[in-house]
Amino acid sequence: MALPWALAVLSLLPLLDAQNPACANLTVAPITNATLDRISGKWFFIASAQRNPVYNQSVRTIHANFFYFTPNHTEDQILLREYMTVGDKCIYNSSDLWVQRVNGTISKHEWGREHFAHLLFFKDPRTFFLAAYLDDEKNRGLSFYTDKPVATQEQLEEFHEALACLGMHKSEAVYTDWKKDRCEPQDSQDEKGKKTENEES
Ligand SMILES: *[C@@H]1O[C@H](CO)[C@@H](O)[C@H](O)[C@H]1NC(C)=O
Ligand SMILES: *[C@@H]1O[C@H](CO)[C@@H](O)[C@H](O)[C@H]1NC(C)=O
Ligand SMILES: *[C@@H]1O[C@H](CO)[C@@H](O)[C@H](O)[C@H]1NC(C)=O
Ligand SMILES: *[C@@H]1O[C@H](CO)[C@@H](O)[C@H](O)[C@H]1NC(C)=O
Ligand SMILES: *[C@@H]1O[C@H](CO)[C@@H](O)[C@H](O)[C@H]1NC(C)=O
Ligand SMILES: *[C@@H]1O[C@H](CO)[C@@H](O)[C@H](O)[C@H]1NC(C)=O
Repeated sequence: MALPWALAVLSLLPLLDAQNPACANLTVAPITNATLDRISGKWFFIASAQRNPVYNQSVRTIHANFFYFTPNHTEDQILLREYMTVGDKCIYNSSDLWVQRVNGTISKHEWGREHFAHLLFFKDPRTFFLAAYLDDEKNRGLSFYTDKPVATQEQLEEFHEALACLGMHKSEAVYTDWKKDRCEPQDSQDEKGKKTENEES
């Protein structure tokens, strides 16, 4: 999910740019069943700014990326099915994410350890953010997701405002380009396949 999986979790924080009162709305909050419902479904990775060198390089290789979240409320897990375009190739992968409700984080096992991201909401209910290393200015990162392949002007402004709240600059951001997506045709087939399966069962 184009990533920002930090290695460490911090305590709940209001980090925020005191100059802008709107930043008060961009806070880490515990994850509830309602939160899980809100992030359930299909999402598109729009943009990211990452200061951690590994994440910074890695987001720059992704041309397009969309994914499905299927939360399991009783297990505190989210099934992630993701379609990532790197160069002119579509890479499909699925994995389980873990939810730490009280900490407002989601984690992923990768490269032999658990990586964490804070789930943040700001303005538009059709967007969300994942933040990495919120307490570490030198490694901080923010990724932005919407429910449509192309973000509206207002949504891009929301992302830029969120960056400013975290003390980051919009020049640090990279953007996906939906015109480069090579996965949507494959996804349509997969979804059709599922429908047929369901009809047969
Ligand atoms: C929640 O965060 C605290 C403080 O960073 C940490 O000690 C604890 O292990 C975290 N809990 C979970 C379930 O990840
Ligand atoms: C913060 O969020 C609340 C509830 O969504 C909203 O009513 C309020 O206008 C927001 N504040 C700012 C400064 O955007
Ligand atoms: C991220 O990568 C770009 C391109 O390699 C580089 O110009 C930029 O300085 C990097 N940013 C950070 C914070 O390392
Ligand atoms: C959640 O996971 C449990 C254990 O794997 C499973 O029994 C249950 O059916 C799942 N719930 C949903 C809604 O998928
Ligand atoms: C969340 O949803 C699950 C499944 O519907 C339910 O078992 C659980 O009690 C709910 N948790 C809360 C805090 O409402
Ligand atoms: C799929 O994800 C798993 C777990 O994150 C990883 O080990 C594997 O390399 C991934 N496969 C591809 C094709 O990226």
